[in-house]
Amino acid sequence: MRQQSHDCLKIQSTGWGIDMHSFLEKLHKDHGNLEKILALLSLQLDHFFAGRESNFDLKIELMEYLETYADQGHHPLENLIFNTARKHLDADQQELMDRLQSQHESLVQLTRKFRQSLENVLQGGVMPRDELEVQGREFVALQRQHLDLEESEAFPLIDSVMTAEDWREVAANIPAHDDPVFESPDKVRFYNLFEYLSNAE
Ligand SMILES: [Fe+2]
Repeated sequence: MRQQSHDCLKIQSTGWGIDMHSFLEKLHKDHGNLEKILALLSLQLDHFFAGRESNFDLKIELMEYLETYADQGHHPLENLIFNTARKHLDADQQELMDRLQSQHESLVQLTRKFRQSLENVLQGGVMPRDELEVQGREFVALQRQHLDLEESEAFPLIDSVMTAEDWREVAANIPAHDDPVFESPDKVRFYNLFEYLSNAE
């Protein structure tokens, strides 16, 4: 997150047709980018499992992006916001926050595991193709379910309970972490991904 966003406490309009706080707008924008990454990963897996040519370096870069940004920047900001909102929530609503935060932990493990499986196959490992497929499909499905649950239930709830003071508390503690693809492009580290995106445009 860039420094300029720390002081950005104004309300912005979103695609939902209602006004959301700028931090939620930022998370919503991240989700759009994550959807793009997941769609690309899914397409690459389709090619690979159909026996067509697919780019393993690209797949590994996609997983690396998820590890670098989703797990280390995006989810920690969500956790901070969820924890700040907790004092306003009833037991069922707290349970929703618990579920999402435990999904963040599982997603870290699953992202690492699938990236390692891809690297193993790339290096000539003996992992069965169908095992890799199950792992990849489950990973994409879980990520999507998680994003949907946040968008449909958690964000509107958070937006309705958080006060200006709560948002100031979030702003004061926000984890600093730039997005290395969509905010501060690292075209060396994510070479294949940028190649793909520029050809797709
Ligand atoms: Fe999340």
